[in-house]
Amino acid sequence: MTATFSERARTEMATVGVVGLGDTGLPLALSLADAGRLTTGLDTDPAKIAALRLGESYLPGVSTDALVATAEWFEPTSDPRRLAGLDVYVICVPAPVGDDGLADLRHVESAADTVGPLLRHGSVVELRCALAADAVAALSARLAAGSGLRPGVDFHLTTAW
Ligand SMILES: NC(=O)c1ccc[n+]([C@@H]2O[C@H](COP(=O)([O-])OP(=O)(O)OC[C@H]3O[C@@H](n4cnc5c(N)ncnc54)[C@H](O)[C@@H]3O)[C@@H](O)[C@H]2O)c1
Repeated sequence: MTATFSERARTEMATVGVVGLGDTGLPLALSLADAGRLTTGLDTDPAKIAALRLGESYLPGVSTDALVATAEWFEPTSDPRRLAGLDVYVICVPAPVGDDGLADLRHVESAADTVGPLLRHGSVVELRCALAADAVAALSARLAAGSGLRPGVDFHLTTAW
């Protein structure tokens, strides 16, 4: 019998996809991998993925040793298909606020369009970007449209900031 999400979470079998491997996403992905979670990291910047595959860090706070130590549990990729059917997706892409006071949602919307089709029943999406409530609601609707699943029923969107 297939284990449920809560069973997998309890037994540390839950799989995680981190979308955006920058200052927030890469250390998070490595700490998850260090804790024994199978973690797949996606970034649209091919130079970052190439560096990580070579075991080279582009962040001052992340050492080569940390990459080597987590290599068995962390897969960096630029191919969204490698993140299909995971338990948890953490979105760590920028949502900068412009001079007009409005958040630029292009990266977040792009990430949602990537993650939506990957969701399955029971998936959890965690949003690390600080967004207004209406933007979070729009993102939830975007994930629902991309997945064909019902937010709050079939998949769950949480915020962490
Ligand atoms: N919750 C927290 O504790 C916390 C703390 C700091 C920052 N943040 C938030 O985290 C987010 C990321 O911040 P950061 O400093 O890591 O940014 P960053 O610019 O350092 O990294 C963002 C990464 O996302 C990648 N990216 C952009 N669009 C993408 C997409 N569609 N798919 C995959 N990858 C994509 C970029 O190539 C880049 O590597 C921001 O929204 C920030 O506000 C949260």
